[in-house]
Amino acid sequence: MTESVGVAVVGAGMAGRSHAHAYRTAQTVFGTDAPPVRLVAIADVNTDFANHTRDRYGFERAESSWQAIVDADDIDAVSIVVANHLHRDIAEALLASGKHVLCEKPLASTVEDAESMVKAADASGLVAACGFSYRRSPAVSAIGEQITTGALGEIQHFNGRYWCDYSADPDAPTSWRYEGPLGTGALADFGSHLVDMAEQLCGTIVRINGAVLPILIKDRPVPLGAALGHAAGGAVSDERKPVTNEDIAMFVAEFANGAAGTFSISRVALGHPNSLGFEVFGTKAAASFDLSANAEFGYVDNAPNRATNGWRRVIIGPDHPYIAAAQSMPFAGIGHGGQEFFTYQARAFLDEIAGLDRLPRQATFADGLRNMRVEEAIVRSAASGTAVTVPR
Ligand SMILES: NC(=O)c1ccc[n+]([C@@H]2O[C@H](COP(=O)([O-])OP(=O)(O)OC[C@H]3O[C@@H](n4cnc5c(N)ncnc54)[C@H](O)[C@@H]3O)[C@@H](O)[C@H]2O)c1
Repeated sequence: MTESVGVAVVGAGMAGRSHAHAYRTAQTVFGTDAPPVRLVAIADVNTDFANHTRDRYGFERAESSWQAIVDADDIDAVSIVVANHLHRDIAEALLASGKHVLCEKPLASTVEDAESMVKAADASGLVAACGFSYRRSPAVSAIGEQITTGALGEIQHFNGRYWCDYSADPDAPTSWRYEGPLGTGALADFGSHLVDMAEQLCGTIVRINGAVLPILIKDRPVPLGAALGHAAGGAVSDERKPVTNEDIAMFVAEFANGAAGTFSISRVALGHPNSLGFEVFGTKAAASFDLSANAEFGYVDNAPNRATNGWRRVIIGPDHPYIAAAQSMPFAGIGHGGQEFFTYQARAFLDEIAGLDRLPRQATFADGLRNMRVEEAIVRSAASGTAVTVPR
């Protein structure tokens, strides 16, 4: 297939720039047989952000509305990278206009919106993907391979944490991230990644228990300028707005295979800007991951010599997923970062559009809805103080 694919990004904020970068670099990974990518348009209501991103990543044009992307006939595929409550309208309009969509997580701000988006995706016959970018971590994928081959034995316990500190300062400005009911705070914002990762590795979560969703900082100042990403550090006014969603989410989960899951998610974990990590314990071996050491993972098994056995550090290299076909210097120990996950994600999305079958498929809208159903069960468990079964 030689036809080119015209791409656009809606949202030139924090993550929109990562999508823009990813489309620029997607052609450099996994061979040269994919159709060329045209970087057509970047859209943002903030025209400074749109123009900056156009110039920085080399898009043909900047637009000030997402409707201009819907109406364009030189665009085939679009990333939606704006606040969660905007996802549904944009995704449904793009699908109706015949464009493939990669929508950021969480898929929507309500389960009802997500259900409607799944219906629209099914009716369209187009690629409708959800942006769980950590699925593209080589180390997490390598651990997944060990689980799939049975090297870990029966999975017994997943212990995961995702700690951030962008909200630790009570005077950090408010933004769309602090609006919406319980469940739309730390849980949806980045806990959704951890829930997706746990289900990818350990299977379906069937029940939630013991959830707590405290709001610790009750109001925040209104920013004076445009808030970008987590908005920490920007100038603020004297006006304060209430915070209506959780700073912390903790809960216990039961997986379909009987394994237990313990989860700790926080946006007020001082000193942890972006600490995603987990341990997964099986009957034969265990593995661990820490995002701050992206290009390695921990592993321990029942090696015969007990006197020298223990956790070992496995350095990611060409024996693991993504590295041989994606890195310019495909050696163990070169290292990589989170931006590569977005590149691999863009590649997987573009491959699926082109009918190429080289990478694990991107999460679908149905996967995004599934993820939100787990989060809904967490919210219901916190409200009722009881165990809640996750709807299938
Ligand atoms: N996969 C990841 O690791 C990851 C990381 C961060 C954010 N995200 C997701 O990406 C999305 C955006 O998050 P962010 O941190 O980039 O937010 P952000 O606030 O930094 O950026 C959002 C951008 O959308 C623009 N915008 C607002 N209304 C618009 C409209 N009607 N049309 C066009 N643009 C509009 C804003 O001007 C802003 O530039 C969210 O869904 C978030 O959950 C994913």
